[in-house]
Amino acid sequence: MARDEFARRRRQLMKLMGRDSIAILPAAPVRVRNNDVEYAYRQDSDFHYLTGFNEPEAVAVLVPGRAKAQYILFVRERNPLRETWDGRRAGPAGARRDYGAGDAFPIADMDEILPGLLENRARVYYTMGVYPEFDQRVVGWVNGLRTQARNGRHPPGEFVALDHVLHDMRLFKSRAELELMRTSAHIAARAHQRAMRFCRPGATEYQVMAELLHEFRSHDADTSYHPIVGGGANSCILHYRENDQPLRSGDLLLVDAGCEYRCYASDITRTFPVNGRFSPAQRAVYEVVLEANRAAIARVRPGNHWNEPHEAAVRVITAGLVKLGLLKGRVPALIRSEAYRRFFMHRTGHWLGMDVHDVGDYKIGDEWRVLEPGMVMTVEPGIYIPAGARGVPKRFHNIGIRIEDDVVVTKRGAEVLTARAPKDPDQIEALMARG
Ligand code: GLY
Ligand code: MN
Ligand code: MN
Repeated sequence: MARDEFARRRRQLMKLMGRDSIAILPAAPVRVRNNDVEYAYRQDSDFHYLTGFNEPEAVAVLVPGRAKAQYILFVRERNPLRETWDGRRAGPAGARRDYGAGDAFPIADMDEILPGLLENRARVYYTMGVYPEFDQRVVGWVNGLRTQARNGRHPPGEFVALDHVLHDMRLFKSRAELELMRTSAHIAARAHQRAMRFCRPGATEYQVMAELLHEFRSHDADTSYHPIVGGGANSCILHYRENDQPLRSGDLLLVDAGCEYRCYASDITRTFPVNGRFSPAQRAVYEVVLEANRAAIARVRPGNHWNEPHEAAVRVITAGLVKLGLLKGRVPALIRSEAYRRFFMHRTGHWLGMDVHDVGDYKIGDEWRVLEPGMVMTVEPGIYIPAGARGVPKRFHNIGIRIEDDVVVTKRGAEVLTARAPKDPDQIEALMARG
């Protein structure tokens, strides 16, 4: 991401904040996995969005209209010994030189400097509740100023939810962000193709997962969430995560796996037969989910509201379940009573961006949000029929199917970022036959 895009975002946010405000954002802490082993570091999405700075123990401050510097970074100091153990640090000089900070200080000096920046500002833009320890420090700085009111130092009178403003900015993806999301989606689509080619009876769920990871890592991407690789009965468990079972001929395999590339997520689900050929019952259910996926994508365009793709998916799935004999009754009544939820119990999608379940409001007041160019969402209808489902013929048992694509709202309609992951059943069978 070009440096000036981060600067443009900071300018936009400062314009929204107004001149007598200040914004404070902490970097994500390092998280411990077990004992003294850490997870790979992932920057806080809001912090990354405004800074592009990828180190922990950092704080960004925006002070619009301030004469000296409007953008200040507090960062870890350079330290040859620590850098030998833990990796490189930019240090304050690097923060100024490489990250556009107007001023930068050692993080250890923050308690000394921050109260001065808060002084005589009317509003603090800050996200409460995400990092409780840091919340305490911010409150401490403000209270510290309060006790000095008699010396003419005035604390800010108002806290404003920074996430609310920032998340509305993040909802609209720029050209550069869409380019990264396209790359993320292409890498994930290749991973799904690889999984289809690899899959065969006798292989295991974890081996399929290894194929996905191989494709992600060889393109400098990593998982954007723990992949779901569920064969047979496991395809009916929505958040299945064990991925440790053998794959059997005659079963379906549901793979929900996306990657993160330069902080941008993709999120794809494909479902295919372990032995490369759909059974007639599997294909019949698959065709319904595919039609729902296509009908929902067709509703993604500017001017439509957030829920229209879901409503389209519900109509197709309910009609399909009736046709398959899995629901009985009239389609409108079954939609009204939400009878379809026995087999389709989740919603059709979510916003997608730096976070897999990305930020942004789905409603404004009581109304569903109207779709506008630059918004990105997933479209992921599914049907899940576990074994033993009452009144369901055996041939439908253990059929769990979801088909998930990533879709951008464009000026004239929609762009499907994940089109390279095959979803047409004939195409899937052809790809699996080639191996
Ligand atoms: N993989 C998470 C989701 O589909 O929402
Ligand atoms: Mn999803
Ligand atoms: Mn998914």
